[in-house]
Amino acid sequence: MRVLGIETSCDETAAAVVSDGRDVLSNVVHQQLADHQPFAGVVPEVAARAHLDQVGRVVQAALDQSGGGWDGIDAVAATAGPGLIGGVLVGVMTGKALAAARGLPFIAVNHLEAHALTARLTDDVQFPYLLLLVSGGHCQLLEVEGVGRYRRLGTTIDDAVGEAFDKTAKMLGLGYPGGPAVEAAAKGGDAGRFELPRPLKGRDGCDFSFSGLKTRVRMTIEGLPPGPMQDRDIADLCASFQVAVADVLAERTGRAIDMFRAAHPRGRTLVVAGGVAANQAIRTRLQALAADRGLGFAVPAPALCTDNGAMVAWAGVERFRLGLTDGLDFRPRPRWPLDPDAPKAIGAGVKA
Ligand code: KG4
Ligand code: ZN
Repeated sequence: MRVLGIETSCDETAAAVVSDGRDVLSNVVHQQLADHQPFAGVVPEVAARAHLDQVGRVVQAALDQSGGGWDGIDAVAATAGPGLIGGVLVGVMTGKALAAARGLPFIAVNHLEAHALTARLTDDVQFPYLLLLVSGGHCQLLEVEGVGRYRRLGTTIDDAVGEAFDKTAKMLGLGYPGGPAVEAAAKGGDAGRFELPRPLKGRDGCDFSFSGLKTRVRMTIEGLPPGPMQDRDIADLCASFQVAVADVLAERTGRAIDMFRAAHPRGRTLVVAGGVAANQAIRTRLQALAADRGLGFAVPAPALCTDNGAMVAWAGVERFRLGLTDGLDFRPRPRWPLDPDAPKAIGAGVKA
């Protein structure tokens, strides 16, 4: 069985063909870097127009590179939320139109579920597992019990972790996209030079907070001698920021491991997913935590952590084999939590 997956919820126009045998037959990603660079961030309308320009070419390339074209495609999946609504509409309409024209089932995929299930494509991880989902819009700890079955243990009470990377990069003049720029600048930096806070570390539960860290980065920059920032200052500040983030993620995830173990004694694995999981320092830190706590560890290759079509196609495979398809009247959902029953974290600005 093969599924075509389409991803357009943020600034990557992506499509892929994936089989139920866990083969990624094609995975085409168009990054809209040049479109957004002048604004040092993603501009929703610019993104939507770029998706419209690119989606036909990207889908055709994914079909061509899969080696089979439309032959053997059993369903069409598209990200239907959460995300920037203009882009989501482009992907959903494309997916529905192709499904209707080819007489195939359509599958509406939750972007967060696509991140959440990727480790089953790459590493065949079995349910239940503990998931740390770290992306541009989210920072959550979830028990993953099955397809469509999530229980949220913790979430951010203010900024998402990728957002903190992106804002730090912007303040340091490193541009967009911020996460990879901060990681590159941190190489060779002295992580001990600047003392930055570890928000909520040591507190009950496993919620996150990053806005105080961001503020301290700004104050640290303002405290440096006037004039252009030196490369050494940038490297040291990026390294100090990255280690503070890794510390908080590891401590909060450690608490979530206790909760997960109590609820799922048979659970064996810690999974990390989402764009920030592409960060090597964070991967290494969480891998050490899992080893220390006697859990297996799975994190997709960096190209499958950041947004891509293969994760959407795979979520489509998982849903399709359970008979979970959607009608052509499915309405895109700009907000779409994985665990609708989760209590809101204390504080404002909780995403999706
Ligand atoms: O999952 P993703 O591609 O899109 C969303 O669903 O949000 O995540 C994008 C986020 C951005 O904030 C980006 O700066 C961050 O992931 N990111 C990274 C790295 N690569 C991407 N953050 C830290 N280190 C990286 N290497
Ligand atoms: Zn994403």
